[in-house]
Amino acid sequence: MKRTLVSLAVLGICAGPAHGTDAATAAKVRALLQQMTLEEKVGQLNQVVASGLTGPENAQAKNVDKRADIKAGKIGSLLTVKSVAETRELQDLAMQSRLKIPLIFALDVIHGHKNVFPVPLGEAASWDMEAIERSARIAATEAAASGVHWTFAPMVDVARDPRWGRVMEGAGEDAFLGSAIAKARVKGFQGKGIGQLDSVMATAKHFAAYGAAVAGRDYQAVDISPQQLHEVYLPPFRAAVEAGVATFMNSFNTLNGIPATGSAMLQKDILRQKWGFDGIVVSDWQSVAEMVRHGYAADLKDAGARAINAGNTIDMEGYAYSNHLAELVKEGKVGQATLDDAVGHVLAKKFELGLFDDPYRYSDAAREKAVHANPEHRAATRDVARKSMVLLKNEGAVLPLKKDTRRIALIGPLAEARRDLEGAWIVHSDPKSVPSLADGLRKGLAAGSRLTVTAGCDIACKDSKGFAAAVKAAREADVVVMALGESFDHTGEARSYTSITLLGKQDQLFHQVRAAAKAAGKPVVLVVLAGRPLAFADVAEKADAILYAWLPGSEGGNAMADVLFGDYNPSGKLPITIPRSLGQVPIYYSYLNTGRPVPEVEALYGSAYMDSPNTPLYAFGHGLSYTTFKYDNLRLSTSSLAGNGKLTVSFDLQNSGKRAGEEVVQLYLRDPVASIARPVKELKGFRKLRLEPGQRQSVSFEIDRELLSFHNADLKWGAEPGRFDLMIGSASDDIRLKGQFELTD
Ligand code: NOJ
Repeated sequence: MKRTLVSLAVLGICAGPAHGTDAATAAKVRALLQQMTLEEKVGQLNQVVASGLTGPENAQAKNVDKRADIKAGKIGSLLTVKSVAETRELQDLAMQSRLKIPLIFALDVIHGHKNVFPVPLGEAASWDMEAIERSARIAATEAAASGVHWTFAPMVDVARDPRWGRVMEGAGEDAFLGSAIAKARVKGFQGKGIGQLDSVMATAKHFAAYGAAVAGRDYQAVDISPQQLHEVYLPPFRAAVEAGVATFMNSFNTLNGIPATGSAMLQKDILRQKWGFDGIVVSDWQSVAEMVRHGYAADLKDAGARAINAGNTIDMEGYAYSNHLAELVKEGKVGQATLDDAVGHVLAKKFELGLFDDPYRYSDAAREKAVHANPEHRAATRDVARKSMVLLKNEGAVLPLKKDTRRIALIGPLAEARRDLEGAWIVHSDPKSVPSLADGLRKGLAAGSRLTVTAGCDIACKDSKGFAAAVKAAREADVVVMALGESFDHTGEARSYTSITLLGKQDQLFHQVRAAAKAAGKPVVLVVLAGRPLAFADVAEKADAILYAWLPGSEGGNAMADVLFGDYNPSGKLPITIPRSLGQVPIYYSYLNTGRPVPEVEALYGSAYMDSPNTPLYAFGHGLSYTTFKYDNLRLSTSSLAGNGKLTVSFDLQNSGKRAGEEVVQLYLRDPVASIARPVKELKGFRKLRLEPGQRQSVSFEIDRELLSFHNADLKWGAEPGRFDLMIGSASDDIRLKGQFELTD
C-alpha cells in the first residue's frame, strides 16, 4: 500500500529538530510535527508490549485498551511482536488513526530468530568477526521477514561477574574485543542500512555499565570509578555508534547513584554531544517508572519528566509518558523543544524504515515462510557453533575421538538435551528439530561402533539414583564423554546465582563415572554446556579433555560432534575468564597491579588468597587446537614512536602440528609508568588465521598513539610518553613474544 502525506510538501521551511539521515527526511519530520497534537506527539514516545492487547499487562497498564489507543495515535511502537500476521493486524489499527503514522515493531532478536545461533557469549568465543556479523545478518533477515523492524540487540555490556545471568548475552569481559564484536553485530543487524527489507534497527544496550551490578545481582546498583566507566564499560557503546547503530537502550541500574534512565551525563553529554548519536534512546522495561523506587523521582510523573529531560526518547511499558507527559509540557516542566526533539527521533526512523511509503512493506507472509526455510541459514548456525567452542584441555591427545571407537559411553543430563542447546531468548525455533549431542555422535560414528547414552540424573541433579547405571556404562566403554552444565533457563535476565558450579550433584556424578573409567583405564572427555563461566576446578582437574561448548543453538549436537570427532579443528578462545572458585569473582586478566604482587612479594604479605592461587582456572584468550602453533622472529619497525607516527610489529606464526587449524593471535600492551596506574596488560589487537600443517606466515599489527591512549585522572584522552611493553601470545597467560618501545612527544 502506497501512501503519501500531501501536506509534507512544506519541505524544509519550518523550524524544529533536524533528525534523519538527510535533509529531506529532516524536513518531512518537521512538517509532520507541525500537524500533530500534543497527545499524538506523546503517543509516538509510548511503547507497549503487544501481548494482552486489550487487557491490563501490569499495574500501570490497568484499564488500557491498546487497540483503541493505537487507533487514537497514542502508541508509537510495540515490543514483542513476532510474526507477519501480528504486524499486519496491528498496522491496520494504526492506519485508522488520524495521521496514519505507522507503528514500529520491536523484538528481542538476540541470537537468531527462526534458526538459533550460539548464545552471544559463545559466539564471542569464536573471535571471528565475519562469523559474528553473518550470524546477526541472518537473524536480521529472518526477523525482518517476520515484519520486525527493530531488535533490542546487541547487548554490549562488558561483564566480569559470572553470577550475573546476563554474561550470556554479551561479548565477555574485555573492552577491546567487546568493541570489535559490537561493531560486527551492529553491521550484521543493519546490513546495507535500515530501510532495506532484510535489515532491522539494532540497539546498543544497556547504557550504561549494567554489567557491573554489585555482587552480580541483576538490576542492582552500579558503583564504579569514572576510569572504569570510560576505559572498560563505555568503549563498546562508542564502537556501536561508530558502526551506525540506530538506537540505544538505557538500563535499569543506577550509576554512582543516578539511574541510567535519568542520567543526562550519559544520554546527553556523552551519547549525543560527545559521540554525536542521532537516534532513538529507548528506556528498558519500566525503567522510567523504576526511578521512583530508586529514590530518584517522587512519583511516576516526576520520573517521566526526569527521563525525557535527561535524553530518554521512548518510555517502554512504563506509562509515565502516556499518563503524564502532555501535562508536563503544559506545565512547562518539559519544554516543547524537548518533546519535539524526542518525537523527531522516532519519526525520522519511521521515514528511514520506509514505513510512510508502505507501512506493510516488511509484512509479507510468503517471504516470511521462504526466508525462514532457507537451508543456508541452518547450515550457518552449525558453522558458527563449532567456531565458538573452546577446547580447554586435551591431555594425551584424547581428542579428537576416533570414529571407529568400539564403544563410547555418553553420560550426563545434557546428553540428549535439545531445548537447552538453544539457550534463552528464542522466538520462532522448533526445539524438536535440534540435534542432541547423542544424535550428533551417533551420526558420526563408523558402522559397527556403538554409542550408549545414560543421563545419570536430570539437569538439576538433586538425587543420585541414576548414578549406578552411569557407572556401569562407563565401565563397559572405551571412551567416556560427559555432558554437564546448565539448562537454557539458568542464564539470561534475572538469572543471577550465588553458586556457579555444575548444577546439583553433577560433580559427584562426574567423580563416580571417572573413577570407574579410570579403573578400566579409559579416558573421560567433558563437554560443558553453559551460558556463563562455571567454577568447576575439581572436575576440570580430573577430566582428560574439556570442550566448553556454551549453549550452541539449532545445530548444537552436530556442531559438538564435528569438534569431538575432529571434522572441525577447534579454534575458540575464552572471551571471559573461568575462575577456580566463586571466591575469586570478579576476576579478569586486565587488572591493576598491586603494591604487593605475588610471586614477587612473599606469599603471606603479598596480595594473595590463603586458600587458592590468584590465577584463574582458564584465562581470558585461552583455547587449544588439535594442532600446535609456533611464534617467533619478533620485529619492530622502530623502537621509538614519535608524534603521529606508526609502529609495525611483526612476527612469524607457524602451524607446527599435523593438522590444518586456526589460531587467534593476540597483541597485549602495557604502559608501565603513567599518571594513573594502568592494567598489567590490555588486549590491543587480535587476528584469527588459518594455516596448513607446516605453513608459516608473517603477521603484523600497527600501533599508533591512539592505541596507546587512555583517560587520565581528569578523564582527558591521550597517550603519555615513555616505555611501553608489548606482548604477543596465544592467550593472556600464554605470552610467546615480548618487546618494548618508547613513545616520544
Ligand atoms: C528487559 C531487558 O533488560 C531488555 O534487555 C529487553 O530488551 C527488554 N526487557 C524487552 O524485552
